[in-house]
Amino acid sequence: MDVFEAINKRRSVRAYKSDPIPEDILKKVLDSMRQAPSAANRQPWKFIIIKDRALVESVVKACNAQTFLMQAPVVIAACGIENQAWKGVGGNRSASAVEIDVSIAATHLTLAAAAEGLGTCWVGSFNEACFKKMLKVPEGVRIVMLTPLGFPASPDLIHPLNPETRKDFNEIFCENYYA
Ligand SMILES: Cc1cc2nc3c(=O)[nH]c(=O)nc-3n(C[C@H](O)[C@H](O)[C@H](O)COP(=O)(O)O)c2cc1C
Repeated sequence: MDVFEAINKRRSVRAYKSDPIPEDILKKVLDSMRQAPSAANRQPWKFIIIKDRALVESVVKACNAQTFLMQAPVVIAACGIENQAWKGVGGNRSASAVEIDVSIAATHLTLAAAAEGLGTCWVGSFNEACFKKMLKVPEGVRIVMLTPLGFPASPDLIHPLNPETRKDFNEIFCENYYA
């Protein structure tokens, strides 16, 4: 599958089968995160691969999180290590690239997963303090996003893009100058 097919197959999946992910496929999609670019190649990240069902259930319940996270066989918490990140985004010496770097790696995951027939859903709305406590994430490390990873509950969840869900081409591209 080429990258355009993977982009077309990536949809936010919010219902999963509990079927396990074969280890070789899991390793392959995780390795796509390892290969992601990062500012000054700092790789200021750590990815928690949560497979323990009891742990996922207790964290989701304790943190009042979105319950579809509990359906997939794997949940990934993408963490950014603040003091490893390059600083200087946009010429601002204190602006950290940590969220940008982790988000690029997470985007690799979403596309690699789609190429392997797996679903993901970027979850950015969660109680970070609660998740950090439950997952033993230390000070100075952020959880940038969560995603379930698993086989979609139904093939219908991988539907073609509904054009109404995206801005028009001409609305978002302009030539030479901002217009
Ligand atoms: C930064 C970010 C945060 C998001 N947070 C959530 C979330 O908390 N819960 C959720 O169900 N979807 C979340 N999404 C998924 C978006 O709703 C989804 O990507 C968007 O509606 C487009 O749909 P699609 O991914 O199926 O193309 C998030 C996406 C991004 C990029």
